[in-house]
Amino acid sequence: MPGIVVVGTQWGDEGKGKVVYKLAKRAHAVVRYNGGNNAGHTVIDEHGEKVFHVLPAGAAIPDVKCFIAGGVVVHPRSLVDEIDTLEASGISLDGRFFISPNAHVVFPWHILDDQERQKKKSGQGIMIGTTGKGIGPCYKDKAGRDEAFRMGDFKEISEFLRRLEGVYTAKRAEFLWRYPSTDATFPDLEVVRDEYLRARERLLPYLSSTVRPLRDLLDQNKQVVFEAAQGTFLDVDSGTYPYVTSSNTVSSAASLLAKVPPRFISRIVGVMKAYITRVGEGPFPTEMDGETAAFVRATGKEFGATTGRPRRCGWLDGPLARYACLINDCTELVITKLDILGPVGRIKFCTDYLNVGRDLDEEDIWNLAGETPIYQEYGGWPGDLSNCHSRDDFPKPARRFLDNLEGYTGVPIHYISTGGQDREIVASFD
Ligand code: IMP
Repeated sequence: MPGIVVVGTQWGDEGKGKVVYKLAKRAHAVVRYNGGNNAGHTVIDEHGEKVFHVLPAGAAIPDVKCFIAGGVVVHPRSLVDEIDTLEASGISLDGRFFISPNAHVVFPWHILDDQERQKKKSGQGIMIGTTGKGIGPCYKDKAGRDEAFRMGDFKEISEFLRRLEGVYTAKRAEFLWRYPSTDATFPDLEVVRDEYLRARERLLPYLSSTVRPLRDLLDQNKQVVFEAAQGTFLDVDSGTYPYVTSSNTVSSAASLLAKVPPRFISRIVGVMKAYITRVGEGPFPTEMDGETAAFVRATGKEFGATTGRPRRCGWLDGPLARYACLINDCTELVITKLDILGPVGRIKFCTDYLNVGRDLDEEDIWNLAGETPIYQEYGGWPGDLSNCHSRDDFPKPARRFLDNLEGYTGVPIHYISTGGQDREIVASFD
């Protein structure tokens, strides 16, 4: 079947953009199915670097159809900026871009609420460390329904303006009540209205049902790539709750959120960085010591593509990797940034947790903070792997690391990406 899902197996930032871009070159369409502009998917092509936040990374390829599915939340002005930037680089989306009317809309009150919550003092609830893009509050309104807007609401302008005024008034009152000593400014209604009407003009031509165009492609056996944002352990249902994002990031969500029956999906590509990073708060059993983390952060350029925040760095965590492969049902793995890990010297790989071994279940994800990792160690390898074109070309410790990882997860490694964010995949084995 022609559907391929690309999913992050960690806490995001595994390098999915690069993988989606590679697969999209041979595909007819790419679909973003969850999250919003909290994501940052980096693509490097012959024209330089492009970072996509809500546009699918396949947008960089001129003749590939791009879909924003109903499970996504859209901040209209940011999406317009992304479209403008892409078009300024000479790539047009005309005739090949579809935004589902069911995608929800992010408003300034969502962003303000997200940002104010970040300023909480201890004892005032849990600090998540969000990207501050309003994603959680927007999904909250989606579930709450009465104060939510969908992209399709832009079509009926008078009804949109009528509801906007009512929701604005309620949100402003709630904001001032909840954050009485805030120094943030709640924008005037006119400012909000003008911004959203301007964005509406630009986005209306792309608003279109996505179900049938997608189904037609799949029925014709044309390849469609489903691009997850974030990673497995940021999934609101499967991740390290409450330190998660507010959408479903796992492979099965592609089917649900893009309304594509599961039988159309035959490949689930799990993207796994050779080490782990995490931004924001939450448990991280294999977090590296400060000095090693600083080295990896510097050489791997581990700073958020959306917020610029330094990422926390840790060793590859086998039990989490096995659990991610289990719940996503990965058919193949892509390993990224192997070249960054090599020069660290003594390389650790967590094989088990002291108390629960390696076969985690839901409750073990609850208890990650208390787990003690048991490590296997490997010798390092050089940072320049550009001459490695097949598995046999890799230095022995790197080969052993990959062989063991494959045996350990039970999932074949189909691609190995090196060169950090800077180079194309140099070794592929499929
Ligand atoms: P939110 O999605 O902005 O609400 O953030 C919730 C958590 O998910 C925070 O820990 C963020 O740092 C993290 N997060 C959200 N999007 C990404 C991403 O694209 N990469 C890595 N972490 C992310």
